Amino acid sequence: MRADDIRPDLAIETLAVHAGQEPDEATGAVAPPIYQTSTYQQDGVGRPRRGYDYARTVNPTRDRLQRAVAALEGGGEGIAFASGSAATAAIAELAAPGSEIVVGDDVYGGTYRYLERVRRPNGVEPRYVDLAGDPDALWEALTERTQLVWFETPTNPLLKVIDIAATARTVRERYGDRPDRPLIVVDNTFATPVLQRPLDLGADLVFHSATKYLAGHSDTVLGVAVTRDPAIAERLRFLQNAMGGVPGPFDCFLVLRGLRTLHLRVERHVANATAIAHFLADRPDVAWVSHPGLVAGPHAHPHAPATGQMSGGGGMVSFRPAAGGARGRTAAERATAIAEATRIFTLAESLGGVESLIEIPARMTHASVAGSPLEVPDELIRLSVGIEAIGDLIADLANALDAS
Ligand SMILES: Cc1ncc(COP(=O)(O)O)c(C=O)c1O
Repeated sequence: MRADDIRPDLAIETLAVHAGQEPDEATGAVAPPIYQTSTYQQDGVGRPRRGYDYARTVNPTRDRLQRAVAALEGGGEGIAFASGSAATAAIAELAAPGSEIVVGDDVYGGTYRYLERVRRPNGVEPRYVDLAGDPDALWEALTERTQLVWFETPTNPLLKVIDIAATARTVRERYGDRPDRPLIVVDNTFATPVLQRPLDLGADLVFHSATKYLAGHSDTVLGVAVTRDPAIAERLRFLQNAMGGVPGPFDCFLVLRGLRTLHLRVERHVANATAIAHFLADRPDVAWVSHPGLVAGPHAHPHAPATGQMSGGGGMVSFRPAAGGARGRTAAERATAIAEATRIFTLAESLGGVESLIEIPARMTHASVAGSPLEVPDELIRLSVGIEAIGDLIADLANALDAS
């Protein structure tokens, strides 16, 4: 397809395959060319060809990726960064010194670390609020100084679901049409645009650690933000260039390649994760299971059915084993034993790749929230459920649970 045939009303399956992936104009190459260059010949002094002057500022492979992710998020402008964390840093710059950020109380440990140890010393105050709980909590946390409302949904690692449309409504009711109202920032890493499109639900800015599902093969680190507000896009593009945390062209290519199967992978991640959540929920030696697709039984997800904003429960499952097990261990000891015993689930940080991963957030991805109000239970296990055969995955977990 040609770039001008990409319309927002196309199905996400079509956009995943074609957006930003049009054949190369020069040769017709069907795969996106990797422009591995740092600079470009100019047609005259101060006359760069088609605006390409320097590769930190602009790169054709990166342009394609930015167009692709923007199309998947339902339209707007994409701005790519060297990592999800570099996107976090640029977005956090939208809050001026002296302002406040209302942050969901369950976020990636690195996001908390950045806000607490980089932004707070620069005069920005993060305020952590359970945005999935009492609807009045957000209203009460908003002040005249709030400039951003920032959350993940589902959250990392507890998989709470925050109602994006309700959050956007509260902010608009509180501030009306004021141009200085807080911006709503949604980290859509866990859901992906296949399951939920935050901009359609009232968010101002959506971003991804594309390292995860968008790339999908655990072979690169990258971040992308998308907004439909031209002023925010311009500011982020400025910060992208000025702060310089840009992705290399090969990494952009890898994410573009991953995107072409995003819809198929997510479908399988969701099916496998839902089956595993049911398997865990049926085990008496499991104390707690969280998965937005669990709609009935003692471990039914408390928020997901109410919002209906996701078209599937996602590929992540978190659970806490009960104390006891085969060897009379504490729950935390069992969690460690389970994470070290699986053979198909690889013990590793990160998520969203085709292979299944297992980790202990308190000691791995969320070590930086230890001792804070965001601390997660020691015995919490987080699974990134891959696309392998479900029978093999369940047998692997059953063996590890039985032996623990
Ligand atoms: C939800 C979420 N947001 C942001 C990040 C940061 O992304 P990156 O690791 O690409 O810097 C992560 C990383 O794990 C994450 O899980």
